[in-house]
Amino acid sequence: MDPSFRPAEIPRVEDCAARALHRCDALAALTEEEGAITRRFATPALREAGGLVAEWMAAAGMTVHRDAIGNVIGRVGGAEPRTLLIGSHLDTVRNAGRYDGILGVLVAIECVALLREGGNELPYAVEVLAFADEEGVRYGTAYLGSSVVAGCFDRASLERRDADGVKMVDAIRAFDGEPEALALARRDPADLIGYYEVHIEQGPVLEDEDVPLGVVSAIAGQTRVTVTFSGLAGHAGTVPMNLRRDALCAAAEWIATVEATARERPGLVATIGELSVQPGASNVIPSEATLSLDVRHADDGERERARDELRRRAEAIAAGRGLGLEWDLVQETSAVACSPDLIDRLGEAILAGGHQIIRLPSGAGHDAAVISTIAPVAMLFVRCLAGISHNPAESVTLADVAAAISASVRFLGTLG
Ligand code: GLV
Ligand code: MN
Ligand code: MN
Repeated sequence: MDPSFRPAEIPRVEDCAARALHRCDALAALTEEEGAITRRFATPALREAGGLVAEWMAAAGMTVHRDAIGNVIGRVGGAEPRTLLIGSHLDTVRNAGRYDGILGVLVAIECVALLREGGNELPYAVEVLAFADEEGVRYGTAYLGSSVVAGCFDRASLERRDADGVKMVDAIRAFDGEPEALALARRDPADLIGYYEVHIEQGPVLEDEDVPLGVVSAIAGQTRVTVTFSGLAGHAGTVPMNLRRDALCAAAEWIATVEATARERPGLVATIGELSVQPGASNVIPSEATLSLDVRHADDGERERARDELRRRAEAIAAGRGLGLEWDLVQETSAVACSPDLIDRLGEAILAGGHQIIRLPSGAGHDAAVISTIAPVAMLFVRCLAGISHNPAESVTLADVAAAISASVRFLGTLG
């Protein structure tokens, strides 16, 4: 750590944590759904959230702009070519908590504010990134924001439609983005020192260990698939059971197989979070059932084997019932290891704050997974109540957020 760096003099860290939490509350009020926090990609609620974050970035001394997909980016240390990216996402799942993603953006802004107030000049530029989409709720494909920054945005996804039939390309335009300029928003890896993300743990390990912070060792890979069983609609009162081609019954059989497969393979998790049934009437045999499948494992080979096995099982169930099956692979992300060098520095910063170092893998996906294709990445987890996330009951403490801000500022002081 640079000896001229004065982390012990970090002013007002509790005040900064309180401000970050207060801002999480303010953003929670910006939602598409009354009474719940829902802020999907390129919606008016996300635009408002980005506007507030831009104001807070500017107040912390950053020069702010929006890139071609609507990520909000604040920069300090403009003359330095070498840049550390710090960020997370502003979009949410449906009926979300108020900290997933958002806390990382607000902690990053507090770090910049504290460094400025403490007179700690860093020998590199810092850019705070507030990504416009990580959850992928609106278009099924996650990481739209970070994939633009990493230069791996899949242009074919511009043709995807949301549940209301709005194409992604049109949604980006309506959000004042520039679909034609997406490739130009890619960051040059040669300029980057790394990418750092603070995030709530979204699991129970830190609480169980009774520590506020954890260092992420790796991020699990994930596969997202849309699966459709197609049968024949018919009258619920007249078609005998043995003559039916019921798409929902096939889906139900397969859902049970998915759960059993994941339960018997260590480290594998598989989730069916969406299910829609056509035509959707109580007295009509379902002709079509469409499901989302999310499969994750820290080992890519295990995940790919499970994916292929689940596909074979779906095909066998469909064939056995005389149904059609469509298997649409929406997205796959490989498992990612965090940078050993950055992990060590982050551990040092946590120790210097008087906390124990816990290393743990992340089962959740994060923007860091995508940015790892252009820069070494590190992540700091913050303990959250009962490990609950993707749920309005998400909760963190002021003391833990203060510990995260202090550790982050110290970590920044080790880089250069
Ligand atoms: C994002 O929260 C994910 O892991 O799906
Ligand atoms: Mn999430
Ligand atoms: Mn997140």
